[in-house]
Amino acid sequence: MSSQTQYTWDGCFDEPVSDLVKRYTASVDFDQRMWRQDIRGSLAHARMLARQGILSAQDFADIERGMATIAAEIEAGDFVWSLAQEDVHLNIEKRLTALVGDAGKRLHTGRSRNDQVATDLRLYLRDATDGILALLREFQTALLTLAEREAATPMPGFTHLQVAQPVTFGHHLLAYFEMFARDVERFADCRKRINRLPLGAAALAGTTYPIDREFVARELGFEGVCLNSLDAVSDRDFAIEFCAACALVMTHISRLSEELVLWMNPRMGFIRIADRFCTGSSIMPQKKNPDVPELARGKTGRVYGHLTALLTLMKGQPLAYNKDNQEDKEPLFDAVDTVIDTLRIFADMVGTGITVKAGAMAAALTQGFATATDLADYLVKKGLPFRDAHAVVGGTVKAAEQKGVDLSALSLAELQAFSSLMTEDVFAVLTVEGSLAARKHIGGTAPEQVRAAIAAARQRMA
Ligand code: ARG
Repeated sequence: MSSQTQYTWDGCFDEPVSDLVKRYTASVDFDQRMWRQDIRGSLAHARMLARQGILSAQDFADIERGMATIAAEIEAGDFVWSLAQEDVHLNIEKRLTALVGDAGKRLHTGRSRNDQVATDLRLYLRDATDGILALLREFQTALLTLAEREAATPMPGFTHLQVAQPVTFGHHLLAYFEMFARDVERFADCRKRINRLPLGAAALAGTTYPIDREFVARELGFEGVCLNSLDAVSDRDFAIEFCAACALVMTHISRLSEELVLWMNPRMGFIRIADRFCTGSSIMPQKKNPDVPELARGKTGRVYGHLTALLTLMKGQPLAYNKDNQEDKEPLFDAVDTVIDTLRIFADMVGTGITVKAGAMAAALTQGFATATDLADYLVKKGLPFRDAHAVVGGTVKAAEQKGVDLSALSLAELQAFSSLMTEDVFAVLTVEGSLAARKHIGGTAPEQVRAAIAAARQRMA
């Protein structure tokens, strides 16, 4: 090695890399978070090399010992991360060599940082996926708990944010359960494509050593190996898919957040969010703000941004590995942190922090003629074509509006002025309870159906 060598790789360089470029190209500040995955991947690689006779048993024992020391140092906060060593991979390799000598220098046999980083990232995202899946299930359980408590609590269902038809609050929450159930499916599906081993691809073309990729895959719990070496080192589809799944989780969280904020406004006053999820104002002593849902709604934007960043990162890259890919980590890490923190808080908030004000929900149902469709359905069942029934009820609503009362407050005589088909039994369909109970098919809002849906949801999660 020439005396000016400062890097693992600058044997053919004529001058040292400038300090600014060093800082510009280093990733250790952020990719050190993958140290566990990096050590795990290296140990599986080394074990395979030893098994294949490419590395001696003694070298492998030294590598294992060195890695155990390094893991303990990092865990304890004693490891010195150095910008000069560029990234997590070279930092660990350098330390390994300092600890165990030549065995450390032999670790990189038959491997490149290109397949190494792709492996680390897949291991990291697989762990993150498992963490997110567990939290999604926790959050779904919280939704079911609240839905069960409020399975028969009537509230206005809205379309165009105008009163549409009565629904139960439990039913409304189950809509969110379905969204997050799809998120679970998406992450579980994405996990299959994350869970493939790039190692063995080396820099791009494979390696000349008699390696056993299947063994390494089994060691690391991968379902199989990436089948083309060029694709193995350059593919980041799994990362984009993962981020897209994160973006959709945030979309769902954001929609719920928007509703929570609306429901907490005194004009609606449908819920109270416990103080531990709110903050006050520095000037207005009376304020209690729903900061958690607001912030979650805001943070949704950054995850969308990360997805766009990753898609853009890939679109112009020729095969195979390009340094561009170093830029994949920060968006992914931030997406992981954002989704994990958000789901944690939401599971707690929905599970223990929301008080429902059933009176305010019921009061809102007396405005907006929420049972008008039920009246039209009633007339249809008495033989009137639906379009005619629609027109009759339109007139009835207008009359009730002028009188300033709900449909159920009109007298039979007043109702019959619009259609003689209406008889005493009409009042049963004009009540909120009647309206809810009538929608008792699968997916409907009848309290008995909501309870059945909750039981079925619990089964699906088991
Ligand atoms: N730090 C790099 C990354 O994050 C590791 C791979 C670098 N490979 C290379 N040949 N420069 O992608």
